Amino acid sequence: MNEAAMKNKRIIIFDTTLRDGEQCPGASMNLRQKLEVARQLARLKVDVIEGGFPVISDGDFQSVHTIAREIKGPVIAGLARCVPKDIDAAAAAVKPAGPHGRIHVFLATSKIHREFKLGKAQDEIVRLAVEGVQRAKSYVRDVEFSPEDASRTEPDFLVQVCQAVVAAGATTVNIPDTVGWAVPDQFGALIARLREEVPEFNSGRAIISVHCHNDLGLAVANSLAAVRAGARQVECTVNGIGERAGNASLEEVVMSLKTRSDWFDGLACGVNPREIVKSSRLVARMSGLIVQRSKAIVGENAFAHASGIHQDGVLKKRETYEIMDPQEVGWGHSELPLTKHSGRAAVSARLKHLGFKLSDADVQAIFGRFKEIGDKKKFVYDDDLTALVGGHIAEVPETWSLEYLNVTSGNQTVPTATVRLKKRTGKKGEPDVLQDAGTGDGPVDAALKTIDRLTKVGGKLMDYSLRAVSQGKDALGEVSVKVDFGDGKLVSGKGASTDIIEASARAYLNALNRHVGNGKGRGESAAQPSVSCL
Ligand code: KIV
Ligand code: ZN
Repeated sequence: MNEAAMKNKRIIIFDTTLRDGEQCPGASMNLRQKLEVARQLARLKVDVIEGGFPVISDGDFQSVHTIAREIKGPVIAGLARCVPKDIDAAAAAVKPAGPHGRIHVFLATSKIHREFKLGKAQDEIVRLAVEGVQRAKSYVRDVEFSPEDASRTEPDFLVQVCQAVVAAGATTVNIPDTVGWAVPDQFGALIARLREEVPEFNSGRAIISVHCHNDLGLAVANSLAAVRAGARQVECTVNGIGERAGNASLEEVVMSLKTRSDWFDGLACGVNPREIVKSSRLVARMSGLIVQRSKAIVGENAFAHASGIHQDGVLKKRETYEIMDPQEVGWGHSELPLTKHSGRAAVSARLKHLGFKLSDADVQAIFGRFKEIGDKKKFVYDDDLTALVGGHIAEVPETWSLEYLNVTSGNQTVPTATVRLKKRTGKKGEPDVLQDAGTGDGPVDAALKTIDRLTKVGGKLMDYSLRAVSQGKDALGEVSVKVDFGDGKLVSGKGASTDIIEASARAYLNALNRHVGNGKGRGESAAQPSVSCL
């Protein structure tokens, strides 16, 4: 590595949770959820937040625009194909960020993508890439270019593309391992070669970024190999969420650099590790994508020692079996739980402490749910409150709301549910409150079938997950569902309660309201993004 590059010890963390992460089927978030995640990413001190793909939908445009307006600190990026309308939309979306706005243009360069997806020859690809960068550059100083499927692109051609886009003004060239095909040594060698053959990567005029997918479980390893070879930006997502098997996980990249700074020669990023666990939980809650227990750094078992020998060792000296201090990444901060006696001011103060920026009306609504829950469980923990906020901001106009639910079940009983629903926008003369009873294969099935009969909107439950939000037998159960209402779209819904049947009914109604509210809520197509290639 040359001297100037050697001196640059700073690794830029480019977070794409809200773009690539949100591309994960079923992870779609609404504007308010994205804004809460973006606020947390700013507290985490990532350098760049990719807020979305503005041309793809009005929702994506609004998200990037709002994040660019509201979030101070990180650079805000919007993604665009090398197509004028995409670049114009991205420019308009990041405009409120002023000099902190970045346009990220991409175009596939590999042979397979050129021949089968784009039908374009190499020289045409170079021309389009250069024109894309130049157009982006007419709007902002900070332009990133990604040769999609770079790791499967002929290296000579990749060098040519990098030289051309850097000459056109790209300040960051991102090398995506789009399909997770690379292996660490090879990927590191590719980055080293680009550094050698594109002088601007050494002079500091442009930097190399990497964006690795996890199809072979190598996304973090590839990213780290690239860093050692000279990459100075890593694109990653909280909890590693993203297309298919996901992206490189932010927490693993950050903590590898920190924990093994001996190996990484003092390379460091500006992320505040103490915000990692909080970020992980918020993203899990907002996206509905649950973190596996054994996930490194943020999984519930990441610092749990089961064997006696390990426990004994840790008690004698923590470092015998722990390479990181759990507190360093935000585990184990003691929290004083709230109880049903806590007042609105205490709840509001705790919500503020957790980092939520909520209106008085929001706090009032959450306080109402807090009181209901406080009546049922002894302590209300920070995780419970976060679940209540998650549920509240995921809410859509409630065409149907749950008034009453009674379910009987047991090993000798046919599960039966009685459900009373209130319809907000009934036609004239139609009753506002409808009640029915029905049976099912189990208590949840009975409740959902009865809801279907009452609403006459049949849905097929495609995914159902239940998790305890906090500790204790009286823990709040949070149900996440994905429902197909017959139009081929998966609509997600969430509900939380100390009663898991009620949580299931609430989650199903949340999805149903989103479906009937169409346009106000947002259905998630299994096949996104819905733009054609280029
Ligand atoms: O995986 C990929 O290639 C991408 C690009 C748009 C950077 O997400
Ligand atoms: Zn990607």
